[in-house]
Amino acid sequence: MHLNLFIQSRGHHEAAWRHPKSSKLALTDINYTVEVTKKAEASLFDSIFLADVLGLWNDVQTTPFNWLEPITTLAALSMATDRIGLIATASTTYTEPFNLARYFASLDHISRGRIGWNIVTTWSSQAGGNFGGIGEVSHADRYERAEEYMCVVKGLWDSWTDDAVLDDRAGGRYADPTRVRAIDHAGAHYQVKGPLNLPRSPQGRPVFVQAGSSDAGKQFAARHAEAVFTAHLEKATAKAFYTALKSLVAAVGRNPNDVIVLPGFSPIIGSTAAEARRFSDELNALSDPEVGRNRLSLRFGGQDLSHLPLDKPLSPEDLPDPRANEASRSRTEVIVGYVREQKPTLRQLLAKLAGARGHFVFEGTPEQTADLMQDWIEEGVADGFNLMPPVLPEMLDLFIAHVVPILQKRGLFRTAYDGNTLRSHFGLSRPDVRYT
Ligand SMILES: Cc1cc2nc3c(=O)[nH]c(=O)nc-3n(C[C@H](O)[C@H](O)[C@H](O)COP(=O)(O)O)c2cc1C
Repeated sequence: MHLNLFIQSRGHHEAAWRHPKSSKLALTDINYTVEVTKKAEASLFDSIFLADVLGLWNDVQTTPFNWLEPITTLAALSMATDRIGLIATASTTYTEPFNLARYFASLDHISRGRIGWNIVTTWSSQAGGNFGGIGEVSHADRYERAEEYMCVVKGLWDSWTDDAVLDDRAGGRYADPTRVRAIDHAGAHYQVKGPLNLPRSPQGRPVFVQAGSSDAGKQFAARHAEAVFTAHLEKATAKAFYTALKSLVAAVGRNPNDVIVLPGFSPIIGSTAAEARRFSDELNALSDPEVGRNRLSLRFGGQDLSHLPLDKPLSPEDLPDPRANEASRSRTEVIVGYVREQKPTLRQLLAKLAGARGHFVFEGTPEQTADLMQDWIEEGVADGFNLMPPVLPEMLDLFIAHVVPILQKRGLFRTAYDGNTLRSHFGLSRPDVRYT
């Protein structure tokens, strides 16, 4: 079982930042991120992950985020840890490919091979306003640009062979120029000559992580991803996603075992079910449904949902059609699917989404938490989990102290790191340079 820790705010619950058990450190204090990353490393997690949005939402009054820029943050985490994998989000739509290839190759050197790139096309509409040259880009165009982008960055990461650096002091030859090549890319969106201006990194290139779940997103994952994050409110849709993605991977001629699927999982753990319930009630008491309503509206690209009553059962027609959504298409599909199946009131739906924004939320004892994780692994729903503690560090501490030992005793989770790179934790091979 693979375990990634998704670090966000003071925990994933909408009200975590206000809860007395969440960290007292400022969210701009790197010691906070270092502290939780070190805990995950001591507990042998495969990796930690930082998300990113390229702008400020309209809800800063009630919603803190991870303010520190993730690529810079990974450089600091690289120096504070030794073994754990480190994954940062960066956008194909709003980052020049040469810069991105250079940042991630540098990070892979700095961390000695522990870096992953969460490839996003950036769904949030406010990003367009901050990048005047590009502006807002439609869902289809974002994925089209991303395809060309992957061709460019893969070429750049392959532009030095592993043996290009000679460092031959006696002979006076630093590098072999025949082992360093330009890529001469000229496409519809990018013109990049190359080569990259630094030698190949320990993992060859970062591990490719991806989290788009629309049809275009899944096709993209099948072609490029090595690990996939995904959000589901129910086991049935998580299983359908897992099965569909693995067959898409096989259909493009790749081995389904070379792509690991990590659904989001946000457990509230208590020594009894009643204690877990109490903690959940405390969090819900700190939540405001109007904060949730605004956040739901942002998912639908800012569509007005103010007319919906809080306490009447919803039907799918009450919400905008996800197929017409240029923002977060797959997450809105998950939400509308849940409304179709469960017919919650808006208040109930918002309480469900407050936990982890549409990821799987759960309350129970350590045994019950471990049982659920084991079931998902054995039933072909997941290869591991993207752990999203509702409150940090409290729920991470409980998970580490009480759930990890059960998983280890059952032989489901490692008791020591086997290797030193993220590729080795994820069981992935190192890519060859295509020129050789
Ligand atoms: C666990 C997880 C983390 C994500 N992190 C980010 C992120 O940091 N930035 C971002 O723009 N999108 C993020 N996304 C959104 C997806 O990358 C994707 O853009 C979104 O689902 C819309 O694409 P789709 O319509 O193909 O699903 C995340 C999704 C998941 C499941």
